Amino acid sequence: MTGDMSPIDKAKFAAACRAADMVENGMRVGLGTGSTAAWMVRRLGERVKQEGLRIKGVPTSTRTAQLARELGIEVVSLDQAGWLDLTIDGADEFDGELNLIKGGGGAHLQEKIVATASDQMIVIADAGKEVETLGAFPLPVEVIPFGWQTTRTLIQEALDTMDVLGNSAALRMNGEAPFVTDVGNHILDLHLQRIGNARQLALVLNQVPGVVENGLFIDICDKVVIGHGDGRVELRDINDGTLELDQLVEGGENLFSDLAD
Ligand code: A5P
Repeated sequence: MTGDMSPIDKAKFAAACRAADMVENGMRVGLGTGSTAAWMVRRLGERVKQEGLRIKGVPTSTRTAQLARELGIEVVSLDQAGWLDLTIDGADEFDGELNLIKGGGGAHLQEKIVATASDQMIVIADAGKEVETLGAFPLPVEVIPFGWQTTRTLIQEALDTMDVLGNSAALRMNGEAPFVTDVGNHILDLHLQRIGNARQLALVLNQVPGVVENGLFIDICDKVVIGHGDGRVELRDINDGTLELDQLVEGGENLFSDLAD
């Protein structure tokens, strides 16, 4: 089965595994959404079964909640948890200051709430997600369905005054119908190519009536675990300015041998 995994999947798994191993007994943990986060949740489920790890997980989407429950992880709501020790989540892009674009999976609203309510956010990503300047990945913006076309026009007017290279805003679709988030909203994907001032853009977008939340995560992420296709991982800490290198695949493909699904 391991032979079926692409180098990117192996990189995602290596990063996810390294981060999941940083979780300690008794922690309240934010569980991200997306394919990398799903590997992390699986690894935590394995630790719950094999080591008796005791954690409370706060999922950032119904998908993640379902997976966590299936794996025997105790799931609680953010309000039940109150505050979290750690959130581990994927990202669509990250830059050298660990600012992020998130929301490719449509869950950035809950992801931002959960990450912000955590002592620490760790991003897990394959090396291809690192960029010098954010913006090649379309920036997701969650908007309420009421008047979404007017909201889009207002967003585009705001973009005209920003340091970006495009202003197209595509309504995300799910087949023939607009995509609907877990909380009933739509998503506009902004094709900006390059975001010159992400901090300013994040503030301006959230001032447009009808915008619920944008996918820029500024000063939220503390660490990134970057996975490579051969099992190497880099752990960067933006607060300490440290870099650790690790190799999770000792002796070939053992790391991936239990991934039958
Ligand atoms: C979910 O809404 C996103 O923020 C994901 O974290 C992001 O899209 C990364 O997804 P993958 O891990 O599947 O690349």
